[in-house]
Amino acid sequence: MVTWSAAKNVFIKIMKSILVTGGCGFIGSNFIRYLLSSRHYQIINLDKLTYAGNLENLKDIASNHNYKFVRGDITNSELVDKITKTSQIIINFAAASHVDRSILKPDDFIKTNFCGVHILLEAARKNRIERFIQISSDEVYGSSHKGYFSEKANLNPSSPYSASKAAADLLVKSYQVTYGLNINIVRMSNNFGPYQYPEKLIPLLITNALENRKIPLYAKGLNRRDWLFVLDSCRAIHLVLEKGKTGEIYNICGGNEITNLELIEKILNYMNKPLSLIQPVKDRPGHDFRYAITCAKIKQLGFKPKYNFETALRITIEWYLKNKSWWNKIKKSRSFISYYQKQYASLPACGRQDIN
Ligand code: NAD
Ligand code: DAU
Repeated sequence: MVTWSAAKNVFIKIMKSILVTGGCGFIGSNFIRYLLSSRHYQIINLDKLTYAGNLENLKDIASNHNYKFVRGDITNSELVDKITKTSQIIINFAAASHVDRSILKPDDFIKTNFCGVHILLEAARKNRIERFIQISSDEVYGSSHKGYFSEKANLNPSSPYSASKAAADLLVKSYQVTYGLNINIVRMSNNFGPYQYPEKLIPLLITNALENRKIPLYAKGLNRRDWLFVLDSCRAIHLVLEKGKTGEIYNICGGNEITNLELIEKILNYMNKPLSLIQPVKDRPGHDFRYAITCAKIKQLGFKPKYNFETALRITIEWYLKNKSWWNKIKKSRSFISYYQKQYASLPACGRQDIN
């Protein structure tokens, strides 16, 4: 007869170990929390803790015995090689992720998003990793006024951010074709939800509105995005992990396409805040007009978003309302203030009230 503790030890031994990179950021932290709730995996989270990485995002699971955090850079080949030896699967979320910052200074985007992926792929090849999942973006297809991009569409990125992600996708694919690495690429539309760093449109607008601060709107706000709730992204990525076919690329869309102006108005209305908070500012250089992807392939794996847009927006607003200390600390930090001043030179500096 096998005792429970012996059975548990066997179970623990056969649990797959996943190296999640960039797990202290927005999507990575939601994904780790989601995956740990299924108790089928052991997770090592490798994160450099850049300005966007925050240990507070995972403080509720920090002592989970199936979770370990390592502070480090994915461009550090020695460290990556060492950690990869004890992992079976790599899921790469680590990236410099904000388009506007890539326009101000592309360096880290090329280093992390391209060179870092190369280091991870080499470690995966050398250590015979079973699966490599690259988290990518619908931005790699570029902008489209009409129609939708399927996974077969050509890549046509516009910004240093999206070019670095597109280059990484091509490199990942080459490791499958050349070395037979078992890869998947997941291309998601715009995510939103709890723990998103307040430089991106939705958290910036919610937190600025809560502070009665102006909301910067690029140009006339007619650019369109398709919004995807982060908890639905986590479910889709999990599906790819469990059921994805070798070498396949999966688009994940939210099915919530809307102009930026309509989105801002919707959120301000939910929050009972005046539309006069909207402040048109200079447009983003090379601003992509619209991202639009098909997602029949992920639907074939069984994916269907669980949250409707309105509910997901309300959950998100509620989260920022309840977690003021989380975003206040970020918005009061010297690095955020200096970024904000550079990016929104025409608006009053952060730390000064716009409206009373
Ligand atoms: P984020 O900026 O919130 O988090 C990025 C994380 O990566 C941070 O924790 C940061 O510390 C870490 N990191 C950065 N450079 C690193 C390095 N060199 N080594 C180790 N860790 C490093 O980003 P996010 O919004 O959570 O995006 C996660 C991934 O999803 C990215 O690859 C992004 O391109 C992709 N993506 C994001 C969206 C979106 O809407 N946010 C949509 C599609 C795809
Ligand atoms: O589509 C997926 C991508 O979505 C991800 O790959 C990127 O990591 C993520 O940052 C996001 O890119 P966008 O550029 O679409 O997201 P952002 O939140 O920066 O902007 C959304 C839209 O809102 C875009 O059209 C620009 C506009 N915008 C943004 C900011 C920050 C404004 O009008 N004002 C702003 O202050």
